[in-house]
Amino acid sequence: MAKEKRSRQTAANADKHLLYQKSVQCPEAEVAFFNKVFRKKRGRKPMSMREDFCGTAFLSTEWCTSHPERTAVGIDLDEPTLDWGRQNVLSKVGTDVSARVSLHRADVLEGLGPNVDITCAMNFSYFIFKQRQQLIEYFKVARRGLKEDGLFFCELYGGTEAIVDLKEKREFKGFDYVWHQSKFNPITRETLCHIHFEFPDGSRLKKAFTYDWRLWTIPEVRECMAEAGFSRTEVWWEDIENDGKYHETGSEENQEGWLVYVIAER
Ligand SMILES: C[S@@+](CC[C@H](N)C(=O)[O-])C[C@H]1O[C@@H](n2cnc3c(N)ncnc32)[C@H](O)[C@@H]1O
Repeated sequence: MAKEKRSRQTAANADKHLLYQKSVQCPEAEVAFFNKVFRKKRGRKPMSMREDFCGTAFLSTEWCTSHPERTAVGIDLDEPTLDWGRQNVLSKVGTDVSARVSLHRADVLEGLGPNVDITCAMNFSYFIFKQRQQLIEYFKVARRGLKEDGLFFCELYGGTEAIVDLKEKREFKGFDYVWHQSKFNPITRETLCHIHFEFPDGSRLKKAFTYDWRLWTIPEVRECMAEAGFSRTEVWWEDIENDGKYHETGSEENQEGWLVYVIAER
């Protein structure tokens, strides 16, 4: 009993990066999806990946774990977050894997690293670019960093509830995750969102993560990709009612909340 009490998670002893990994990220599914789409479109296995806005490099590490010859380049502006990834993610997988993940503290606009099969920008990170010209510039850089048959993957969310103030709670083992949309400006489509974590003892990690974004629409993103030079774009819609898998589509009914991948061919 006493032992259980001691090991209980509270706001004071929790690690926000670990909670984020448990509640938001699912790198195995992402790697499987990238692999499936790339093989279908290109008839070969993708081997190299650039993870823009890589955070703790959880996905890059899973990418290199998934195949003994896969390589990944992770780019993020925040050194403490990269360090957390080095100490808590890369250090756990052995040097045969970690030697194939190279992390750089840099702006994604620098386009660091060799040309790759796949570049990805996960969890809406590119929404930090609020002006059309900035977004096009980012897509140009992402496109230039791809091999000739390379693909760019990014996620986008929307739906009738994406533009309202709300708090949405999901329960996990030992903590609750709260997605908080606190502001939406319909004139600019700027949105301010937070992730909070709550614990069984009533303590909270408020604003563990804050996102100051422009909520881009699917056609805007596709148009910017086309202007950046991508030859073709596709939308892959998450089938929430069924198995959570994604399918390529051109028309869907709107929902309260939806999530898509926009996939662009160099
Ligand atoms: C929403 S988190 C994404 C973390 C992780 N990739 C994921 O999928 O959950 C956004 C990350 O982007 C980084 N970031 C923000 N602006 C950036 C920029 N211009 N260049 C590189 N990284 C940036 C932040 O430091 C943060 O770690």
